[in-house]
Amino acid sequence: EVDIIGCKSVQELSLDSENLPSNNYIYKEGGVGFRDAPLPSQSDLHIPVVDIGKLISPSTSQQELHKLHSALSSWGLFQAINHGMTSLTLNKVREISKQFFELSKEEKQKYAREPNGIEGYGNDVILSENQKLDWTDRVYLKVHPEHQRNFKLFPQKPNDFRNTIEQYTQSLRQLYEIILRAVAKSLNLEEDCFLKECGERDTMFMRINYYPPCPMPDHVLGVKPHADGSSITFLLQDKEVEGLQVLKDNQWFKVPIIPDALVINVGDQIEIMSNGIFQSPVHRVVINEEKERLTVAMFCIPDSEQEIKPVDKLVDGTKPILYRPVKNYVDLYFQYYQQGKGQLKLPKFN
Ligand code: SIN
Ligand code: FE2
Repeated sequence: EVDIIGCKSVQELSLDSENLPSNNYIYKEGGVGFRDAPLPSQSDLHIPVVDIGKLISPSTSQQELHKLHSALSSWGLFQAINHGMTSLTLNKVREISKQFFELSKEEKQKYAREPNGIEGYGNDVILSENQKLDWTDRVYLKVHPEHQRNFKLFPQKPNDFRNTIEQYTQSLRQLYEIILRAVAKSLNLEEDCFLKECGERDTMFMRINYYPPCPMPDHVLGVKPHADGSSITFLLQDKEVEGLQVLKDNQWFKVPIIPDALVINVGDQIEIMSNGIFQSPVHRVVINEEKERLTVAMFCIPDSEQEIKPVDKLVDGTKPILYRPVKNYVDLYFQYYQQGKGQLKLPKFN
């Protein structure tokens, strides 16, 4: 038989009840008890919830801006509620995603990632030798700007896949602007300073993550620890099955499910622009023995021609510049993870 990796989807592997996951998926050292992370529920230690309705100008609530600032400086992420999208919309996005993974192998394979491509349907990308593989299949698509969509790789089934993604992208586009303005305001900066720095030719990539059940949830990860290379990321969590964990003060915490909330985290590029005031959180995904889990991530990526650097106002005698200017950060990001050095995050560079 042909080599299993890169050939069989994780979905297929999970249906093979005869065999345990191969060594490529298993963490032997220090990989015990992935699922045991606590919920950060004490009042001084919970993942903040931000009401987006209260952030929308002109009546922006100072208290809510404060909350946003404190959420991003302590966790790098928050749960956004009252963001304007209804449960109906969010459930629709979850539903078409689920329906795609329920299609036959042959149907899904029509949208398979090409050998050197990044978009399309596939499993974990092998970036380095000896890399542990993530227990997940995904569909990765550039969704913004519209004229750069690769329709060959956009599923045609279920029937309302494209329409639903189209509308979801438009809604998140608006939310993206609202959030970047609010993040700037929370730092007492001109409200469009981050939007300007990200440029007009910024892009958005969507990733539907499907995590099949796994018989070894304490030794296999859905996604290995990493920070995002985006400016910001929106995550629509599964409605019922938890899995996302975030690292804070060297401890893993579960990110609880709040129905209809979106988890929003800053990526490395806001970390750079904010001169490290807001740091991109390291996170990972654990899996479930019995239940599948499905999430939809949207990564906002600045224009690759733009120079990304700390905002001038955040640098002075008392706050030295922590990052040197960088163009096309995403390239650097993938090169770094390709080296497979095992650090969780790109080091600060100056
Ligand atoms: C990711 O961070 O790559 C995925 C997050 C999730 O599925 O919960
Ligand atoms: Fe991530």
